[in-house]
Amino acid sequence: MNRIERAGLALLHRFDPERAHALSLLALQTGLAPLPGPVTSPRLATTLAGLSLPNPVGLAAGYDKNATVTGPLSRAGFGFIEVGAATPLPQPGNPKPRLFRLTEDRAAINRFGFNNDGMEAIAARLAARTRTQVPVGLNLGANKTSPDRAGDFARVLARCGPYVDFTTVNVSSPNTERLRDLQGPAALAAVLQGVMEARAALATPIPVFLKIAPDLTDEDLARIAEVTLACGLAGIIATNTTLNRDGLHSRHAGEAGGLSGAPLFERSTRVLARLSQLTDGRLPLIGVGGISTPEQAYAKICAGASAVQLYTAMVYEGLSVAARVAHGLDQLLARDGHASITDAIGTRRNHWL
Ligand code: FNR
Repeated sequence: MNRIERAGLALLHRFDPERAHALSLLALQTGLAPLPGPVTSPRLATTLAGLSLPNPVGLAAGYDKNATVTGPLSRAGFGFIEVGAATPLPQPGNPKPRLFRLTEDRAAINRFGFNNDGMEAIAARLAARTRTQVPVGLNLGANKTSPDRAGDFARVLARCGPYVDFTTVNVSSPNTERLRDLQGPAALAAVLQGVMEARAALATPIPVFLKIAPDLTDEDLARIAEVTLACGLAGIIATNTTLNRDGLHSRHAGEAGGLSGAPLFERSTRVLARLSQLTDGRLPLIGVGGISTPEQAYAKICAGASAVQLYTAMVYEGLSVAARVAHGLDQLLARDGHASITDAIGTRRNHWL
């Protein structure tokens, strides 16, 4: 992080977290944030479910909820970007405050509840964007008051699918009451079948990922892996935020919502390794949760991930964390004699089991 970015972050942290988030989007939109441009190398460039990634370090869902800054984000060093969650109808989300910094823990708690502009506005923005080398995907959500939540995911995909490179079924947000119930096998199969039908109806079918919670038992994970494979999904993103609050020290540790950042690293990596064992190379996995260093990104890859994503680290390290993690990962691969990231996937899975 250079001095300008450090000063920018210090300034942002004087605002309440949701305002700071909006200001960071504004800085990107107006070109105030310095962008490193694409980061790639022969070791980093990879293919994930048919998508060509310049590097395997992606932006996790929830930062660019309304797809307003995909252009600048594609020059920020990320190898792929996930926007959303988008729901069929616009919705305001939960009452404020609903985002908390846990600075001492290098973490955040959010209970946004899928605040977003809705699929029509988001589809229009995605349709108008200039396509780049960096794939852009859309996180699918359901409206809080929808009479057919399971069908909402397919509706958003049908509307926005033509304008994105991949999509993610998010049944793992803790902030929409009972949404996580859709992770149960029967409900999950129904959601995924609907989504896969919507995918098949697209002129160009795109890869569909499933994003899961970190708070699942081994039995839950086994069933989810089975349903995901049976429904023909492209892969699993592990994980979303956690409800667990062990070992926190910050003032806001008791806030309701999903916890992200450093304290999520171990738990989400263990879930990732277990899934890797269960699917054993049959499904690519994307590792998310608590990554802020190249070593942590590398650890997720060695635990079984084909690519990784991050979000909360940007709150504490700035946007430059993306390029830093990607460059550092390249060096770690070189150090260990790997010609490509593919060679490292799952090499230390047993360490996490
Ligand atoms: C999220 N996350 C998230 N995930 C998702 O699938 N859909 C969403 O809309 C959101 N929204 C969201 C908002 C905020 C403020 C945060 C902090 C997180 C979860 C996110 O994509 C990621 O899975 C977790 O944050 C764990 O990664 P990090 O943040 O520890 O790198």
